[in-house]
Amino acid sequence: MPATKETDSLDSKFYKPADAFFPVFSSLGLTYDDVTLATRYSEVLPRDTQLDTTLAEGLQLNIPVISADMDTVTESRLAIALALNGGLGLIHYNMPEREQLSEVSRVKNNVHGLIQEPIKVAPEQLIGEVLELIAKKRFAFSTFPVVDGQGKLVGLLSGQVVKPRYAKRKVAELLTPRSQVHTLTKKELGRDPIAKADKFFTDHPGINKLLMVDDQDRLHGLFTMSDVERITQERNAQFKPARDAHFRLLCGAAVSATRNAFGELDRERILTHVGALVERGMDAVAVSTAHGHSRGVGDAVRMLRDAFPKLPIIAGNVTSAAAVEFLADCGANAVKVGQGPGSICTTRIVAGVGIPQLTALYLASRAAQKKKVTILADGGITKSGDIVKALTLAHAVICGGILAGCPEAPGDVMEIGGKLYKKYRGMGSLAAMKEGSAARYGHTVNPTSKVAPEGVEALKEVSGSVDRVLAQLIGGIQSGMGYLGAANLAQLREQARFIRVSPAGQREAAPHDVMELKTGS
Ligand code: XMP
Repeated sequence: MPATKETDSLDSKFYKPADAFFPVFSSLGLTYDDVTLATRYSEVLPRDTQLDTTLAEGLQLNIPVISADMDTVTESRLAIALALNGGLGLIHYNMPEREQLSEVSRVKNNVHGLIQEPIKVAPEQLIGEVLELIAKKRFAFSTFPVVDGQGKLVGLLSGQVVKPRYAKRKVAELLTPRSQVHTLTKKELGRDPIAKADKFFTDHPGINKLLMVDDQDRLHGLFTMSDVERITQERNAQFKPARDAHFRLLCGAAVSATRNAFGELDRERILTHVGALVERGMDAVAVSTAHGHSRGVGDAVRMLRDAFPKLPIIAGNVTSAAAVEFLADCGANAVKVGQGPGSICTTRIVAGVGIPQLTALYLASRAAQKKKVTILADGGITKSGDIVKALTLAHAVICGGILAGCPEAPGDVMEIGGKLYKKYRGMGSLAAMKEGSAARYGHTVNPTSKVAPEGVEALKEVSGSVDRVLAQLIGGIQSGMGYLGAANLAQLREQARFIRVSPAGQREAAPHDVMELKTGS
């Protein structure tokens, strides 16, 4: 039963919505463990809650989780795993620009109903050359359409003949001829290409590739049975993969506000690189720096907004309402909030600045509402309860440490004392800055001289896969929403009521007076 007026007014003296709660603590910085959320009458079952979030026009996620643009967190493998779960990976920029382009391409080309630009081979190539291509590009497949110089389909090179024993033979000698290759035209695919392709594979046992050609028999795409099966299954999943209009997985990439030798914003370099990222299909660019309320970041965002009017732009990091307003005015759609809350951050210790995360999120969220932009809670997330609290103010969270132990994150596994670990380091750590991330912290050429690192190098115990970690996190978010009677994230923001927790309350919140045998997962 919903509360009566009397009990409701008693509760509301203690449990306050954000606008009544945070101003009371205006001289005290609060973070996740400093508060707890009050439950409300609910008719919402956790499993029925919706987690989709729109971060900008054209940038909609099915779960509000983004992976940090850090070199020990997000490269294509993790970005693919996250997008398949409905989230978004931000490919880091601590690598040569060309490599970042390839990483984005790997995500965009991963699994889609129609592979629009399938890798092709030419009839005159040797099988040995095809094998070299597979090894160099690390392709996980070995069947290729064969096209001539005009792009016309000549046949299909089956993986069964792409073997070292045939290395000296020509593709033309071993291909399956055009007359035996199954194709459809765009018109024949109709309005639901996946359903059509699915039916085709059912009707043609043993065939697992279907090519699309135009009226002149030029190749325009390729369906594989495994992609089609996956997409057919996805249609029934609660949290669908985050995809673009062409069924490609979503992918973001980070850039820094790079300066040239004269210390000015390197406009040409940034524009050329972002242009190339857009060409690869990047769905959002993140201008990612430690201090987003600065001229350099503002100029970079303004320049990108002018050059790419429709591109979703994420910018940060900031911790004040004025900074959100500034970046929104420059053209950002989503603002990263967080200075110093990250598990590997030492900005607050080294520079003496930064704001406990919930207070920062509150201020940012109020400016964001006014400016009609969204905010991303970046850093300091250690458990699903933190995400629920963050989502009472933000539209998504950015996670680093919580994903860094996943097998999909970059880096090798090492064994120490019988336990398995992966490296996790701050982008402001000395090692990361030496490899290129110095610009993020406002440092230039020789990052090792007279520069105080603002992050540490650390280890994370190896965790389960991204699927497993996210299953736990999503379960927790859905529980929180059920307790608050929130069917979706907009309702979560409306329904949240906060209360401050004492140190004894914090101790009470974790397992206590027991010997713990096993944690949740
Ligand atoms: P979590 O807590 O998820 O935080 O591990 C990830 C976020 O931390 C930020 N980051 C840094 N902040 N020094 C900092 O002060 C650093 O070296 C550093 N590296 C990353 C970043 O916002 C990331 O998303």
